[in-house]
Amino acid sequence: MDKILVTGGLGFIGSHTVVELQNEGYEVVIIDNLSNSSINVLDGITSITGKTPFFEKLDLKDKEAVETFFKKHNDVKGVIHFAASKAVGESVQEPLLYYENNIGTLVYILKELKKLPSANFIFSSSCTVYGQADELPITENAPVKLAESPYGNTKQIGEEIIKDTCKIATNIKAIALRYFNPIGAHESAKIGELPIGVPQNLVPFITQTAMGIREQLSVFGDDYPTPDGTCIRDYIHVVDLAKAHVIALKRLLKNRNKSNYETFNLGTGKGSSVLEVINSFEKVSGKKLNYKIVDRREGDVISAYADTKKANNELGWKSQLTLDDAMRSAWKWEQIVRGK
Ligand SMILES: NC(=O)c1ccc[n+]([C@@H]2O[C@H](COP(=O)([O-])OP(=O)(O)OC[C@H]3O[C@@H](n4cnc5c(N)ncnc54)[C@H](O)[C@@H]3O)[C@@H](O)[C@H]2O)c1
Repeated sequence: MDKILVTGGLGFIGSHTVVELQNEGYEVVIIDNLSNSSINVLDGITSITGKTPFFEKLDLKDKEAVETFFKKHNDVKGVIHFAASKAVGESVQEPLLYYENNIGTLVYILKELKKLPSANFIFSSSCTVYGQADELPITENAPVKLAESPYGNTKQIGEEIIKDTCKIATNIKAIALRYFNPIGAHESAKIGELPIGVPQNLVPFITQTAMGIREQLSVFGDDYPTPDGTCIRDYIHVVDLAKAHVIALKRLLKNRNKSNYETFNLGTGKGSSVLEVINSFEKVSGKKLNYKIVDRREGDVISAYADTKKANNELGWKSQLTLDDAMRSAWKWEQIVRGK
């Protein structure tokens, strides 16, 4: 079976994707430098699939190490590139760290792929490229807005770099997947999202608050022009997202792509407000969440949810799991991680 490289394969979305790849019979090689993950994730993956993926602890910022890796694994048929730094606030404080880690590593990998007879490349992009879109739901044709943070900019620049490379390197086929808001955990609760430090995202903040690790959740603004006044996002279960990567990869491996560089939105197509997410959590956990409404936070997009027609019709992928499914799995994962 084809050998697939998953960079950042011990991270949140990467680990779930490794499971789905192994379930489909692919041989998986993971590169991770453990900067935002733990080696224990490898055990989690193994206990779900019964197979231990090949793991190489490697920092993709090390150009020579990347070259050496590809010499050793010149039979890699596909690369799913998750490895990146992803904290928006930190990227404002440390822009060069973000440009080096998110852009430098991408360039090193593409340089190696250019040398192969043929290469299939999947890139983790984000709905952040759309900013506050003028029209909802957001299609892939919506204009890319001026990035609000260096992190967001790395996704925009990353997409441009891949597009430019695919124009001249005809051996490379690529798909950029623009994720909306990934949440949840594997139903086994053997892998999940494990933020280091204070969670940047809503759902781990909710589960950590319910666990007593955080005192209270702040809901930033309830006076937005939305039905309940809180911001709206498109929360997509990480297992659905992981499956989309396998489908996108197969599209490339089987030459079903329409052009050498394509983009797809990955979301449910349904927006949920912050209060709806909290309600879902309270329903599935049976716990009352300690939260308070505070002032709006600067830079928050009011509402963003995907138009999923392109992913549904062309990719042949549709999300299956619900917000309640995601909250249930996230809560189960949080309890297991904390040994409760
Ligand atoms: N989680 C989200 O909300 C979200 C939304 C949109 C896009 N994305 C993108 O999806 C990708 C995966 O996100 P995630 O949530 O799984 O993040 P994550 O931090 O859990 O996973 C990233 C993994 O990459 C590794 N890594 C980082 N830099 C590396 C380097 N130089 N060399 C080797 N390994 C390195 C980290 O140790 C980590 O295991 C990222 O590119 C992220 O920007 C995430």
